[in-house]
Amino acid sequence: MLFLLITCFTFITFLCKSLSLKPLPLWSSSEVRLLSIWFWNDFLILNPFKKGFLESLMSSNVMTLRRKSFSYRVENVEANSEMSVLDLPELVLECILERLPPEGLCSMASVCSSLREKCTSKYLWEKHMKEKWGRVLGPAAHREWLWHISSRKDSSFFNQAKERGLMTYLSQFWPISIVRSNPSTSFKKKDPPVIDSIMSMYLALESGKFWFPAQVYNRENGHVGFMLSCYDAELSYSRRTDTFQARYPPHGRRAMAIETGVTWDRLRVPPLDTSPHDLYISDCLTELCPGDHIEIQWRRNKEFPYGWWYGVVGHLETCDGNEYYCRCHENDTVVLEFNQYTHGSRWRTTHIDRKDHREEGNEADGFYGGIRKLHSNEEISMWRRLWPSDVLE
Ligand SMILES: *[C@@H]1O[C@H](CO)[C@@H](O)[C@H](O)[C@H]1NC(C)=O
Repeated sequence: MLFLLITCFTFITFLCKSLSLKPLPLWSSSEVRLLSIWFWNDFLILNPFKKGFLESLMSSNVMTLRRKSFSYRVENVEANSEMSVLDLPELVLECILERLPPEGLCSMASVCSSLREKCTSKYLWEKHMKEKWGRVLGPAAHREWLWHISSRKDSSFFNQAKERGLMTYLSQFWPISIVRSNPSTSFKKKDPPVIDSIMSMYLALESGKFWFPAQVYNRENGHVGFMLSCYDAELSYSRRTDTFQARYPPHGRRAMAIETGVTWDRLRVPPLDTSPHDLYISDCLTELCPGDHIEIQWRRNKEFPYGWWYGVVGHLETCDGNEYYCRCHENDTVVLEFNQYTHGSRWRTTHIDRKDHREEGNEADGFYGGIRKLHSNEEISMWRRLWPSDVLE
């Protein structure tokens, strides 16, 4: 208790001192008040059982602080002091910045070069990046970004962006009103923005200008012909609808398919680094046994890209499924079942050779490629969630 009391008073005295040394302008004194309340909130979260005591202590101290800051405010008007938010202790300023949303960081970044440096820091943006984009961006998307910025470095656009300064650059992404909050402090040419930072990747994603690779479940709005499949696509985000536009690579000579309104839950990071045009070399064939969940590459035609289709390993026709007698896992033939299709449908089952499986199939039934066994319950339950309400023909 004593320790708490000491900590509290030290903090308050510290704040008061910093106030008395350099009076804050009107707006930043309210920032400090806000901050002290945050501080208390954190404190109370950490020490819930001391809430009653702290609350009484807090109300009296915050009141004193308020009165004090009010008197400094009066002083401040008279003295016309030059105090800025940058005079806040480093740690305090960091706490404020950490709590700002991306929009807030952008407008803070346009205040002055010192704040810009702080507000564009990798650390702050990595947090936002992970929070919003972590689930859908994989290594392929990051590679694509590197390629994207290096190609822009060569182009005149990149140089223009440098010349025009950070504010103009940002105004491409955020509403002008936010970015132009302080037009008197536009940046000098000698100080170009750090275009290849994590922040610019975040902004480019938000703007929808950067198309990133990912995979889409049940493409083309759950078209029956793609039920329980996952296809590679390039995606562009729309802030207005909080959905994506997907571009699927062309099927042979057919035009590229475009789908709009793809929701977040239909996207995934490609689990393998295999192009949709390459056969994946399966590494699970020897271990496959009935009941395993799998995804298999399938394409209608050899000119088409592969999609990944969900299925399970079934029993051979000669096996009744009795676990004591079942020898299916020793047989060279593996039965794959796609139970979303009705009995008798040509899509319902297929056989593959465990010892020598390459691409198998024909022009009528399509071609079955590499197989990956699903190990995580998360992946399996995702396919279950996508299960169609009607049996497919
Ligand atoms: C594999 O299964 C087939 C058909 O069910 C059966 O005829 C064959 O004897 C089995 N092979 C082995 C090695 O068990």
